[in-house]
Amino acid sequence: MLHLRRQLPYRPTERMNVVSYPIRDIVMEAKREEAKGKKMIYLNIGDPPQYGFPAFKVISEQVKNALDENCKGYAPSAGDEELRKTVAKIEGCSPDDVFAVAGLTEGIDFFFHAFIGFGEKVLLPNPVYPLYLSKAKQFEGETVFYRHDANGQIDIAYLAKKIEGAKAMVIINPNNPLGSVYSERNLSEVVKLCAEHDVPIFYDGSYDQLILEGKQVDFRKLAKKKIPFIYGSSLSKDFSYPGARIGWVAFHGEKWSELKNAFFLLCNQRLSVNWEFQKAAAAAIVDPSYSAYVADMKKKLLERRDTFVKMAEKLPLSFPVPQGAFYAFIKIETKKWKKDIEFVRAALKQGVVFVPGSGFGRQEDGVYFRTTFLPEPEIIEAAFAKIKRIL
Ligand SMILES: Cc1ncc(COP(=O)(O)O)c(C=O)c1O
Repeated sequence: MLHLRRQLPYRPTERMNVVSYPIRDIVMEAKREEAKGKKMIYLNIGDPPQYGFPAFKVISEQVKNALDENCKGYAPSAGDEELRKTVAKIEGCSPDDVFAVAGLTEGIDFFFHAFIGFGEKVLLPNPVYPLYLSKAKQFEGETVFYRHDANGQIDIAYLAKKIEGAKAMVIINPNNPLGSVYSERNLSEVVKLCAEHDVPIFYDGSYDQLILEGKQVDFRKLAKKKIPFIYGSSLSKDFSYPGARIGWVAFHGEKWSELKNAFFLLCNQRLSVNWEFQKAAAAAIVDPSYSAYVADMKKKLLERRDTFVKMAEKLPLSFPVPQGAFYAFIKIETKKWKKDIEFVRAALKQGVVFVPGSGFGRQEDGVYFRTTFLPEPEIIEAAFAKIKRIL
């Protein structure tokens, strides 16, 4: 008996049952197909350098300089002072309100860890970037979804019905996976509602420079003095440098003193974030050449989006045309597929990797999948020609 028990594999804890990241989990299956000799087109992940979007080159240059500087020890837990000061200037807050994190991923983790407890309600968009779902579960919060109208704007009447008793609301703008960009009016209505119900906002601005159509609204200006909020961003998307693993969060407004302290403790516990890349970030985010860089990136993204939309519109698919970021969240308009994962697996067999819509919390009202439109037009065309066969 004892002998038999020893042969069992070590078991992870129950906590692991809620840990998932569908955007990468699907890659394991894709690799199995690849091992059989199939060539795969990866449309599952928003990793711009993989698809010919150069990282903002000031970052690499500054990392090289930083390697010669005296930053061989641990950086300060809450972040390099220069980076905190620079972010604070952009954010219009004090450097003490800024924390450097290992990609916004860590900022999201810290936010849930520090702020969302057992049974506490957190308002998430539906569909939502999967990390938020997993974190809400990990920290035993209660997810309450809000939804979007046909134009991809936040459905205010619906939100008004759901907001009561929420501890926090998450806004992702531009939105992943929908690609929607919220209008000034829409955001103002959300802020008003949150102020009435005393619900602070975690604003995920990972893609805030990548607005392809419509007006770029500065949420900080719009929400300042009206509602406490946390603004998060990173080098990953706006600067095409996800490998840097550098992000930051800035606390705005009153009432955050205890939460900032909690963030500080979490930062202490993990010691520090890579110092050279923080130094590089401090220089890069205010470098004057950034505006030309990002204009170029948006031009290229717009071309790729247009190719993607032209292709996808010929197929029995529906989706709001993405106005920002580089994803689309697509509904299959044929009756053939009952489950998203079955469709995604069939697409894998054709050599195309998507993410099932259920990974983003959407499943009741149809079969959805998410794609990125980052790749070169020829690749997007090849991918959609392949899935045409299985729709
Ligand atoms: C909406 C959103 N938030 C946060 C992240 C995390 O990004 P990072 O940790 O690379 O900054 C991503 C990554 O895809 C994202 O799409």
